[in-house]
Amino acid sequence: MKNSVGVSRRAMIRGLAMSLTACALPLPLRADGERPHGAILLGARPKGSLLMEARRGQVELLGRGLGKTAIWGYGGSVPGPVIRVRQNEQVQVRFKNSLEQGSTIHWHGIRIDNKMDGVAGLTQEAVAPGESFDYRFTVPDAGSYWYHPHNRSWEQVARGLYGLLIVDEPEPLDVDHDLALAFDDWQLKADGSLEEESFSAIGERAHGGRIGNVMTVNGQSDVRFAVRSGDRVRVRLCNTANSRILVLRVGGCGASVIALDGQPVAPRTPSASDLILAPSQRVDLVLEMNGAPGSRAVIWENSDMRLPLVRFVYHDSDRNNRQHKPVRKLADNPVPAPDRRKPLKVELEMTGGAMGGMRSALYKGKKMTIRELVDGPGLIWAFNGVAGMPEKPLFSARRGQTVELDMINNTAFAHAMHMHGHHMSEIRRVRQTRKGPRFMDTRPDWRDTILVDRAEAVKVAFVADNPGKWMLHCHMLEHQAGGMSTWFEVV
Ligand code: C2O
Ligand code: CU
Repeated sequence: MKNSVGVSRRAMIRGLAMSLTACALPLPLRADGERPHGAILLGARPKGSLLMEARRGQVELLGRGLGKTAIWGYGGSVPGPVIRVRQNEQVQVRFKNSLEQGSTIHWHGIRIDNKMDGVAGLTQEAVAPGESFDYRFTVPDAGSYWYHPHNRSWEQVARGLYGLLIVDEPEPLDVDHDLALAFDDWQLKADGSLEEESFSAIGERAHGGRIGNVMTVNGQSDVRFAVRSGDRVRVRLCNTANSRILVLRVGGCGASVIALDGQPVAPRTPSASDLILAPSQRVDLVLEMNGAPGSRAVIWENSDMRLPLVRFVYHDSDRNNRQHKPVRKLADNPVPAPDRRKPLKVELEMTGGAMGGMRSALYKGKKMTIRELVDGPGLIWAFNGVAGMPEKPLFSARRGQTVELDMINNTAFAHAMHMHGHHMSEIRRVRQTRKGPRFMDTRPDWRDTILVDRAEAVKVAFVADNPGKWMLHCHMLEHQAGGMSTWFEVV
């Protein structure tokens, strides 16, 4: 489960330097969305159509005055604007592509109208440089979602093209603050510029993907919020990294999980797996700021070293004495319940990658050796023996049919399996051990992305109720590019 490459010592030292220079002034929680960039939610919603331009920009990822990084971002910033709408409201975005390569916007986790899913080559053509595309869709589910390109995502997301999409429940929770936080890691060179040579490098594709050496929260490397003892804060955490599996911990305050991948769960103390965020996954937490005045609460990241990602700095004396209502379960979204009596059963076996022993796979209907796949299209992974997008769907379901999909990981790496247009619920998780199969606890929460560890098989159920062509892929973007992509259709 551990990522292979560490946050470099340089980044750690930089982090230290940061805390010495920048610790004096905790950032106030403000409603104007200025600082920390893009984090504040209790503000206005966009009215009418929103223009989102993908373009180049310069961002101080390392902190103010510590060097600029050339990025690609929506509006030239990282992350792009927080889009905030109400449940069942329409989102209207005019996407303008001012990059030098084709792009799209995919609305991750939204059970969306297929035409608006933004998958280049499957649901639309990539929007060419200089062109625009109008996205218009209603959001059936409340919760925390995000958006990113679905064309050359391994490069475009790594360069900074992503943002958060928040869908408000009809009845808001009783909280004092509501924060949306995008966690990312970057591969930066010593001068702060983005490491570009390794984009699409086969080494990263074959192993754990592109793992960065600098972590940011909403495009900043040192994020602090001022709070008071007694405050209650909703945080919406999203892993936008290409491939890093975040292992989070929360200290210095109380925490309950209230939603995963946007879908409500009965409030509970977070389990370890609730706080492991695979690429693209989200968790919503309610933090009870019950620490003493003058102390701190921290969201830590532990995937390879203990790194404070977000710090909440308690006011020295001021307290919030307001009585909050108990944290209740958010209203369920209208995700249909599977009918397990006559499901369509589908198996998906993952093979390939380094130490995976795959010798050959089908590519565009032709059997190719692993050498030919690597040297030609740069592929090294396969689903059911097929590398890259197949011409025929993995399966075709009748609208309304329950599907049971068994995802079997016969590789040496964990994979973050993401399904478009639907959410799925785990019904069985088995791990192969030397002593034979071991049945693990299942996590039946609705999710759009499920982490399948090596030697694990995870069976999920969902109702294929959304007509169209939908992708199913590993959200480790180098794995997706390296062959772990397929699609299914609902007719
Ligand atoms: Cu977040 Cu297929 O995407
Ligand atoms: Cu993967």
